Amino acid sequence: MELGRRFEGRNVLVVGGGADGPPRPGEALAMGNGRAIALRVAAEGAAVAVTDRNLDSARETVAALGGPGIALQADAADPDECRQAVDDAVAALGTLDAVVLNVGIASGLPLLAETVDDWRWHDDVNVRSHWLTAQQALPGMVERGHGAFVFVSSVAAVLGGSGLAYEATKAAQVAVSRHIAVRYAKRGIRSNCLLLGLIDSTMVRREFGGIDGRMDKRAAAPPMKRQGRPEEVAAAAAFLASDDASYVNGTTLVVDGGLSVT
Ligand SMILES: NC(=O)c1ccc[n+]([C@@H]2O[C@H](COP(=O)([O-])OP(=O)(O)OC[C@H]3O[C@@H](n4cnc5c(N)ncnc54)[C@H](O)[C@@H]3O)[C@@H](O)[C@H]2O)c1
Repeated sequence: MELGRRFEGRNVLVVGGGADGPPRPGEALAMGNGRAIALRVAAEGAAVAVTDRNLDSARETVAALGGPGIALQADAADPDECRQAVDDAVAALGTLDAVVLNVGIASGLPLLAETVDDWRWHDDVNVRSHWLTAQQALPGMVERGHGAFVFVSSVAAVLGGSGLAYEATKAAQVAVSRHIAVRYAKRGIRSNCLLLGLIDSTMVRREFGGIDGRMDKRAAAPPMKRQGRPEEVAAAAAFLASDDASYVNGTTLVVDGGLSVT
């Protein structure tokens, strides 16, 4: 498929743009959702700043971009590092046209097993980091009257069956996106959310790849009878970040192969 050049001359920040887990069989580069998004917007012309708590992983993404980019080390659980990452991205690229808030963690604990530390960790990474990143990136975008946020959330924001803290924080992530969409639209800012279903990402390969039958079970769940691919997530993220979505604001785009309507 020939890609367009929707991000020519555009600068994109991808938060959590490394990949933490094994590659798919026969592939050299491990593929997570953030990495796939970075590669997709780069393939369409963007200069990309990639942050990750693992600098080597961010560097691996940037090396694969095939275009301009910068790798930055930042732990999303640390407020100062969230803010610094935006400043470093702006210093390197000049401006930001789109910010993709992809970083996310999941422990899967149910209510009775949930702990205060686990809850706080989810909140720090899955919600607070996104608010702080947006807070730091917004003023420059508002000044230029142009900018797009894409939050990578989950169908767990609206469905049960995952861990409690994951479900709660993924719902809160949608609220952060919605807040931006309503408050800043008149200043040229759009904000939207992806609600992902079962994606064959590095996180999933790391967590479930070694458990007998688990990947088959995930593949069997959606009507399409397969997991999604990070590259399919990236196509949806690129749409929301691009001018093709110029009148799309405050929405949640479900990318789940029909899982949530069965
Ligand atoms: N894979 C799925 O089935 C699925 C489903 C729904 C939603 N999602 C969402 O997709 C997003 C990406 O998930 P993925 O499956 O690609 O995961 P992944 O673990 O493969 O990639 C996430 C990246 O974030 C980095 N990271 C983790 N904690 C960090 C921190 N504190 N600071 C900075 N970087 C950190 C990791 O190093 C990794 O490179 C998450 O928000 C996740 O909730 C995934």
